[in-house]
Amino acid sequence: MAGIYVHIPFCKKRCSYCDFHFSTTFSSYREKLIAAICLELEIRKTELVDVPVETIYFGGGTPSLLIKEELAAILSAIHTHFEVSVNSEITFEVNPDDASEENLSAWKELGINRLSIGLQSFQETDLAWMNRSHSTQQGETAVRLAQAHGFDNISIDLIYGLPDLSNEQWLSHLNRALKLNVQHISSYCLTIEPKTALNDFVAKGKLSRPTEDQQSEQFDLLVQTLRQSGFEHYEISNFAKDQKYAKHNSSYWNFTPYVGVGPSAHSFNGHQRRWNVANNTKYYKAVGKNEDWFEAETLSASEKWNEYFLIGLRTKWGILKRSISDLGGFNATELNQLETYLSTDLMIENRDNYVLTEKGKLQADGIASSFFRLD
Ligand SMILES: C[S@@+](CC[C@H](N)C(=O)[O-])C[C@H]1O[C@@H](n2cnc3c(N)ncnc32)[C@H](O)[C@@H]1O
Ligand code: SF4
Repeated sequence: MAGIYVHIPFCKKRCSYCDFHFSTTFSSYREKLIAAICLELEIRKTELVDVPVETIYFGGGTPSLLIKEELAAILSAIHTHFEVSVNSEITFEVNPDDASEENLSAWKELGINRLSIGLQSFQETDLAWMNRSHSTQQGETAVRLAQAHGFDNISIDLIYGLPDLSNEQWLSHLNRALKLNVQHISSYCLTIEPKTALNDFVAKGKLSRPTEDQQSEQFDLLVQTLRQSGFEHYEISNFAKDQKYAKHNSSYWNFTPYVGVGPSAHSFNGHQRRWNVANNTKYYKAVGKNEDWFEAETLSASEKWNEYFLIGLRTKWGILKRSISDLGGFNATELNQLETYLSTDLMIENRDNYVLTEKGKLQADGIASSFFRLD
């Protein structure tokens, strides 16, 4: 099994909190960029020979800005150069203002079977400081319209721990999200990234910095509220109904190989991580020419071990005893560390794995890093 990730580096506007790779001025070269993505897919066809592609993920940036012909061209390149399973999951990230009847019909016709819609907040004032290109009403309408077009695997993105967001308001956002009857919710704690407009707003006192207590209380509310409504908390930031897990993202967490194409996209082949240049012009000019458009790094044994803990401990599948032993097993210090976490109710031991408790999940990254090894 393998996955393909396609990064679409275009956005209408610059959201104040976002530091993903995208450009808001792309009309003059978008054709060249799409052609370069298709060419990269062709060049890299040998990377997944005899491995069926079971998940395809269009992320961004804003994939929903693609016109039908562009999306069709990329999908056709994928189907031409890779062996795609009939029942593969094909996810498309959508900004609510792009979810028109016409676009939804086109996405359905082209075989997209999972939508990830970025609602972010149910409060107009939040969407305003975030500089989002849609209203809360457009967010809700996008989900309903997608359902009316037959999409039955929909995820929404919400952010908590926002400046001045009270617990009552966050609960009301969760209740509005639940009314939408979606199958999956991804909810992230706001990170104030350096070099973003949000970082400036907070530094200048225009927005207040959320406290750690507020963020952890809202995480608790998120987990309790969604769980009471039948959602399974299967990864720190992800919740699914009826086992509708994000298969593509789950494959990142299970170390399944994937090919990532487009500017800034990352790839993993089991041993090596590789990442494309995060510059649209450099990317489309270099692909297929005698120039490098990516860098790569082979993971050392310690790096594999560290990643396994960092990623595995965030999921309900935890870290498998079999994989730990494949990676060399615990040393005496690590075993001591593990015993401490088990005896303080931060971790649980099952027959085949170790998982974090609810209390442990609040410190997932810290616990994982306490097992880190140096080369
Ligand atoms: C990079 S965006 C791409 C999806 C789409 N363009 C959108 O905006 O809805 C993926 C998700 O990451 C989350 N995200 C991005 N920056 C974040 C930040 N600084 N803190 C928390 N969540 C963030 C948002 O929820 C967003 O929907
Ligand atoms: S959050 Fe989404 S729409 Fe906003 S800038 Fe980032 S990628 Fe673009």
